[in-house]
Amino acid sequence: MMSADSPDRQVKYSGNVFGTRVTSFQFRHLNCLPFITPNQNEKLNYMSINIVAFSGSLRKKSYTTRLTKVFQQLAPADVSMQIADISQLPLINEDLEGNFPQPVKELHNTIQQADAILLATPEYNRSYSPVLKNALDWGSRPEGKNKWKGKPVAIIGCTPYALGAFGAQNHLRQVVMYLDMYPLQQPEFYLGSVNDKINDFGELTDDTTRKKITELWTAFLGLIKNK
Ligand SMILES: Cc1cc2nc3c(=O)[nH]c(=O)nc-3n(C[C@H](O)[C@H](O)[C@H](O)COP(=O)(O)O)c2cc1C
Repeated sequence: MMSADSPDRQVKYSGNVFGTRVTSFQFRHLNCLPFITPNQNEKLNYMSINIVAFSGSLRKKSYTTRLTKVFQQLAPADVSMQIADISQLPLINEDLEGNFPQPVKELHNTIQQADAILLATPEYNRSYSPVLKNALDWGSRPEGKNKWKGKPVAIIGCTPYALGAFGAQNHLRQVVMYLDMYPLQQPEFYLGSVNDKINDFGELTDDTTRKKITELWTAFLGLIKNK
């Protein structure tokens, strides 16, 4: 999931060593982690996986945000998912880096706390949204302290039209690779005609989409747990 020396990893799971239940924090201080065999490792129980989601649309009735909330509702039991507020971030500006604005500091903290990231994007002119790009850019600063590095990430998107934000996701995938994240490669998630599938109350009305969301969660947890 995260690097072994990450503070978050220290309390994320527990397991048994010679019949005694210990947390990963204790594993680490017993210097046990390198000695856990694959079989023992399989027995570790994740207490909660902290996923932070970002919606690339600020629109009040955004389909992208609705879709993000549907993912939240369908998240597996061992996942805790929050949706980050990126609406208060200033536009990226290196002049502000001497003293990062509070919303940027909060973004940095949020990313660092996360075990994994879910990026949801609308499609604007065959690319992903500048709102999301702005958050990605701030999270990569200051130079040499990229907060996204090493995070597993899943990319999703939707549009009321036919192609399901393929162009947006395709561009976004290139950027998360550069940010040194671990993108879920399959399944991809392109949701077209979203206006027929998620209603004005934010309810998912399409069973095929529900199945695809469940499949994505399963694959994403596999990536997170095996990373
Ligand atoms: C500037 C702009 C460009 C757009 N370009 C595309 C596009 O390339 N492909 C597409 O499917 N929809 C495009 N749309 C329509 C959006 O998919 C639609 O407005 C969608 O509802 C936006 O996502 P949201 O509901 O999460 O805000 C565009 C919308 C805007 C405002």
